[in-house]
Amino acid sequence: MWTRKSLQELMTEKLANHLFMVVSNREPYIHTFVGEEIKCVVPASGLTVALDPVMRACGGTWIAHGAGDADRDVVDSASRVKVPPEDPSYYLKRVWLSKEEENGYYYGFANQALWPLCHVSYTRPEFQESQWNTYKRVNALFAKSVLEEVGDRNAFVFVQDYHLALLPRILREANPNIITAQFWHIPWPNPEAFRISPWQEEILDGLLGNDLLGFHIRYHCNNFLDTVDRAIEARIDRDRYEVTRKGVTTRVHPFPISVDFEAISGETDSKEVLVEIDRLKHQWRLEDCLLGLGLDRIDYTKGIPERLKALDRFLEKNPEYRERLVFVQAGVPSRVHIDSYKILNEEINNLVEEINWKYESDHWKPIIYAREHLAPETLAALRRMTNFCIVSSLHDGMNLVAKEFVAGRNDEDGVLILSPFTGAARELTDALLVNPYAIDHFAEAIKTALEMPKEERQRRMRRMRTVVQENNIYKWAADIITELAKFEFGQ
Ligand code: F6P
Repeated sequence: MWTRKSLQELMTEKLANHLFMVVSNREPYIHTFVGEEIKCVVPASGLTVALDPVMRACGGTWIAHGAGDADRDVVDSASRVKVPPEDPSYYLKRVWLSKEEENGYYYGFANQALWPLCHVSYTRPEFQESQWNTYKRVNALFAKSVLEEVGDRNAFVFVQDYHLALLPRILREANPNIITAQFWHIPWPNPEAFRISPWQEEILDGLLGNDLLGFHIRYHCNNFLDTVDRAIEARIDRDRYEVTRKGVTTRVHPFPISVDFEAISGETDSKEVLVEIDRLKHQWRLEDCLLGLGLDRIDYTKGIPERLKALDRFLEKNPEYRERLVFVQAGVPSRVHIDSYKILNEEINNLVEEINWKYESDHWKPIIYAREHLAPETLAALRRMTNFCIVSSLHDGMNLVAKEFVAGRNDEDGVLILSPFTGAARELTDALLVNPYAIDHFAEAIKTALEMPKEERQRRMRRMRTVVQENNIYKWAADIITELAKFEFGQ
């Protein structure tokens, strides 16, 4: 079983002479003004949740966009601050972007072109040349920050996600001694879907500047190899899962990401969480209710309208559950300047309003929509209290909410209703798998979850907990570092 300690030992053994760096768009800690005071906030991001424990264990530097309004007030002259605030163990180095750069690169090319391009959820990607140009410029800015930090040291640079597809090639050309890996946190679509990108060659070439390229599942690795095969000049070795282009060989491997199982499981019994459970029961009048839960970033890939429609259908078909079941949908607003997100927000608000209006009584309404950033103890309390949790993504690379739910149930109870279109469904086969587009089946699954005998719930939850415990975030990091270290020794 991989732990924080064994990962630290592996780092000392394999990477002792190297600077270890993570590079991502999203920063793990955001400093923000609350009145006169500066508060440090943890963003709602699977990527940062997964990588923060790894950085705590490994030390090194994490480079990311400084997006908080107080971010500049806490850094040193090299734009660095030590984090986490309560136990400083690594450097966060911030890259500063202008509003125009953030618009073209993050809200623009990354999230209006690449995000819908890679997720099969029927939102049309938009390709604008000016956004593409800004994306290129911002990737070069990140590269500059990495190269400054590396200097003439040996370094392993671990790049995250679709915001930085061009970075590895820039690093490779500037400093061929840097060993680079990239993890693509979202799905990779098939070549027919990807080829509509007017800049598919440049994107693939950028990614093939990496020594190692990781996806959550083998299916996405295969899609990537197929895309390379159709789009550009490169030699592909399908047995070894390697691509060679411009003299560089890139290994393409699956690494299913995970969570810090022990930490999440342990915090569930903390005094703060138990107090929070009592507070929520009282505040939301949940004392004698059955509870369902959805916890998401508000994104059109998460299937939130589909789950609300399934709840509606469930209450329609099963009136005996009216006044008994409460569904808490907690959601953090996300990418709110993009039209497709504005439309989604409105759709969700309307659905919540309509469904509540249709069924509510004097002292009960079926849906509580908490559209806000909830504290970690509130999230832990909700996970622990609920009878079932719904993860209904239309398409998702992995989905860590599902794994967090399982890790948080150290009482070995609770049912996970999970979309088969998530990476997590490959591992969590004891969840109730249901197609979120099939509203009637979905409504049936809610009934099955509520009526599942305790023994079966426990049997399923125990098995899922074993899977998440064994394949935890430290194993994910250790597998990648072991693979990366091979490049050092030319294996
Ligand atoms: O799921 C893909 C992803 O980019 C994650 O890697 C990240 O945690 C999440 O989306 C959050 O997105 P954003 O950084 O845009 O808030």
